[in-house]
Amino acid sequence: MSPRLQRGLLIIAVLLTPFIVGLLFTYEILKIPFTTDMQNQISINYQESPRILPPDGAVPVQGLAIIPDEFPVNPIPADPVSLQRGKILYDIHCQLCHGEMGHGDGPLAKYFDRTPQNLTSSQITTEFDGAVYLTILNGFGQMPALYENLSPHETWDVVNYLHTLPARE
Ligand code: HEC
Repeated sequence: MSPRLQRGLLIIAVLLTPFIVGLLFTYEILKIPFTTDMQNQISINYQESPRILPPDGAVPVQGLAIIPDEFPVNPIPADPVSLQRGKILYDIHCQLCHGEMGHGDGPLAKYFDRTPQNLTSSQITTEFDGAVYLTILNGFGQMPALYENLSPHETWDVVNYLHTLPARE
């Protein structure tokens, strides 16, 4: 073999080697065991249990309310700002069914089997705020749950506003 041919073969061999090694990996003739730690973990899909609860003491800055098991205590003072917000929110979210003054005579009231409650009746006003708060979040009978429409703070503003509506049995 002439030295030139020898050199030629050597160059071809050098060029082909990485290609062949690459093919061995591609077709998994050679395998490198990559770490598989990531797939050996509990993975919980969307809407699957167990639900991961927020850490203790976490405060929802905004967004959906966490519906508590017990009657929550009203943390929002009924100051003018809260009442003003409450009125605006009431007119948007409650008035259609419960009426402008909360007497259960809104334009949609007649479409319900049981008319929307008179929110100024003693039955409602003597109920503590927490019960009304949960009614707004969870809904009640034919009344829809409104937790998607009102943040917790806004819900308390509405509860505060209800106390200012003139009573009528
Ligand atoms: C789509 C109509 C509708 C809207 C909007 C609505 N309600 Fe009601 N609500 C009703 C109906 C109907 C009832 C009576 C349900 C029943 O007795 O089965 C009711 C009942 C109630 C009760 C009485 C619950 C009880 O324990 O007796 C409260 C309090 C109340 N609503 C507050 C509110 C507030 C506050 C808002 C606004 C944030 C609101 N609702 C928005 C229809 C509505």
